[in-house]
Amino acid sequence: MSTAAKGLEGVIAADTELSFIDGEKGVLEYVGIAIDELARHSSFEETVFLLWNKRLPKKNELDEFRTLIRKNSEISDATVAQINALPKTAQPMHALRTMVSYLALEDSEPNSVKPDEVQRKALSILCKAPAIVTTFDRRRRGLERVSPDPDLSIAANFLYMLNGKKPTETMERAFDVCLILHADHGLNASTFTGRVIISTLSDIYSTITGAIGALRGPLHGGANEGVMTMLNEIPSVDDVEKYVLDKLKRKDKIMGFGHRVYKAYDPRATYLKTLAKQLASDTGNSDLYEKSHRVEEIMDREVGSKGIYPNVDFYSATTYHCIGLQLDLFTPMFALSRISGWTGHALEQLETNRLIRPGAEYNGPHGVSYTPIEKR
Ligand code: CMC
Repeated sequence: MSTAAKGLEGVIAADTELSFIDGEKGVLEYVGIAIDELARHSSFEETVFLLWNKRLPKKNELDEFRTLIRKNSEISDATVAQINALPKTAQPMHALRTMVSYLALEDSEPNSVKPDEVQRKALSILCKAPAIVTTFDRRRRGLERVSPDPDLSIAANFLYMLNGKKPTETMERAFDVCLILHADHGLNASTFTGRVIISTLSDIYSTITGAIGALRGPLHGGANEGVMTMLNEIPSVDDVEKYVLDKLKRKDKIMGFGHRVYKAYDPRATYLKTLAKQLASDTGNSDLYEKSHRVEEIMDREVGSKGIYPNVDFYSATTYHCIGLQLDLFTPMFALSRISGWTGHALEQLETNRLIRPGAEYNGPHGVSYTPIEKR
């Protein structure tokens, strides 16, 4: 009988002061501040400062941070050339992962793990990621790239570079809130990946590249694309019940439901549900919201008693669709935000670093004699 904790469930593998989760009560806090408070009052820029400094910035500090962000948002001509050399058919998550890795090649000292250097490099990655994703996306759509506008926030700039026109205040705010909600979430799979990489005293480029790879999976950040694919497969609200029941009967997972930690409603989903409903009504996508809501009703009836509720990815799918994002940009959008959390954790890991190197229980044979190849 193995003593390994399958999926490392229940294993405490790091100390953190960044995000607190109470999965039974459905609570999430960044540095002690409830996620709901941040979603209502903060901006993504301020949230990034919070996660990297473990306190909210004073006004002048936030102004300086915004200036730094503006200075770092444009990508070099060489980076643009590299993006243009990628196959247009590539998936945006693969393109983003490749290009974050490439950014290390433009850094004359990519390997420094001094905290101020790590933070400076991570800021550059965080600021350049929106330009990377939008440059890649516009090229595959046959459109000219749009340079960042230094007067815009990270959220507005992403939508501006994507669409070539400045977003409305409502869209900017909705997108900004999505960035805040996705910024950090304890020792999730991609953050753990990042902490393992930086614990070897490797560099922040490798840390974020590896974390992007982990995030892409459908059991993690890739679930938001799975949700949209599912909603597209269901012709109408009336077809939801049969669709969900068939899937449950086959023991298929319904994307956007369930969580390793939350056994109550994910507080991010609560916020996103309201946002999705509002945006769906504003953009003529109410049918999409109605389908989502019906999926939730059926899931609640069938498996709610097992503590399976919508997670952050469920209503973010409808939200992103209403904001105008193409399906395969949903997970990159998650990554753009989570770079902030990965960096916060990398900085925290470096504060008291010890190589992360767990053990494995060996269950194979012993003393097997070597068989020469011609006798196998
Ligand atoms: N649909 C149907 N049944 C489910 C689901 C679901 N989405 N999630 C869990 N279950 C059932 C599962 O079948 C199992 O039932 P039983 O005990 O009868 O075999 C039980 O709940 C426990 O599931 P598990 O897969 O062992 O739980 P886990 O803690 O290993 O997995 C999870 C957590 C998030 C991977 C899983 O709930 C899942 O695959 N959900 C769908 C993918 C998804 O939405 N992922 C995003 C997670 S939140 C954002 C993020 O971190 O990126």
